[in-house]
Amino acid sequence: MSDQGHRLVLTGASGGLGKAFAAALAPLCSVMILSGRNGAVLQALQQKLQSTYPDLLVRTIVGDLTQPPVQQRLHESCRALSAPIDLLINAAGISDFAAFERQEPAAMERLVMVNLLTPIQVTQRLLPLLKAAPSAQIINIGSIFGYLGHPGFVLYCATKFGLRGFSQALRRELSDTRVAVRYFAPRAVKTDFNSETVSRMNRELHTTEDDPQTVADELVRFLGRRSWDRKLGFPERLYVWLNGLAPAINDQALRKRLTVIRRHLGSPAAAHPSDARSRP
Ligand SMILES: NC(=O)c1ccc[n+]([C@@H]2O[C@H](COP(=O)([O-])OP(=O)(O)OC[C@H]3O[C@@H](n4cnc5c(N)ncnc54)[C@H](OP(=O)(O)O)[C@@H]3O)[C@@H](O)[C@H]2O)c1
Repeated sequence: MSDQGHRLVLTGASGGLGKAFAAALAPLCSVMILSGRNGAVLQALQQKLQSTYPDLLVRTIVGDLTQPPVQQRLHESCRALSAPIDLLINAAGISDFAAFERQEPAAMERLVMVNLLTPIQVTQRLLPLLKAAPSAQIINIGSIFGYLGHPGFVLYCATKFGLRGFSQALRRELSDTRVAVRYFAPRAVKTDFNSETVSRMNRELHTTEDDPQTVADELVRFLGRRSWDRKLGFPERLYVWLNGLAPAINDQALRKRLTVIRRHLGSPAAAHPSDARSRP
């Protein structure tokens, strides 16, 4: 095993973006600890990475990361390394496309747990190890919807806004340490995260969906830069800018889209497909 390169923890590694992140980051890493629920997908990814990079050490942590024993296993796997981890990427997440009024309390709790509380808990557990590295980064995978409230994604937006607030506050709290906390915000991406209904709506609203590979390449570039956050896509970056400057313009634009959004919200397959898909 080489001593050069990052010692990475990647959550959500079995997902559409996670697999692309792992493949793009592998040449920059000496150790990768990959977490997800789908053991078969993680094992296939581990084999592929190790056969391509024989010097790379790849470990997998399979299980529901909202569960403390799974978080504990992740922590132990990191502690067992000969050198401290220096890169934590919190990418695990679930989607949610639903009318707020009709959302079930259990689905709301699950969304907040997976998308917000779990990355916070994982970060807290791993922080002492990250602080022991000569320099370290925590990159939270947020979303353009962490800057821009959008109808049909009310709770999802709340979790991604929350994750951005957490990232910014922790970045400032750790500003006298060697740990940088950063926020990386893709726009829509072509993965199973988005249900057929959401992708159909995106096409109708002319919302671009990026390829996971493009997003992974952007993440690698972001890793080498100093800016604290990164928003992907145009016109999405313009909408975010406008949202700060003149939110009424976005209010009006989204009001005009409400009829289309409401029609797609009426589809029975609209709500939180990614969690239903992969929960064991
Ligand atoms: N795709 C998009 O349009 C988009 C846009 C902006 C931001 N993002 C963000 O990017 C991240 C990755 O999205 P993606 O497109 O790769 O989604 P995805 O293909 O649905 O993958 C989600 C990943 O999260 C893992 N996960 C979900 N719940 C978990 C839990 N309770 N415990 C452990 N792992 C769990 C999944 O594990 P298993 O599959 O093994 O169950 C999978 O690895 C998310 O945070 C998402 O919010 C996505």
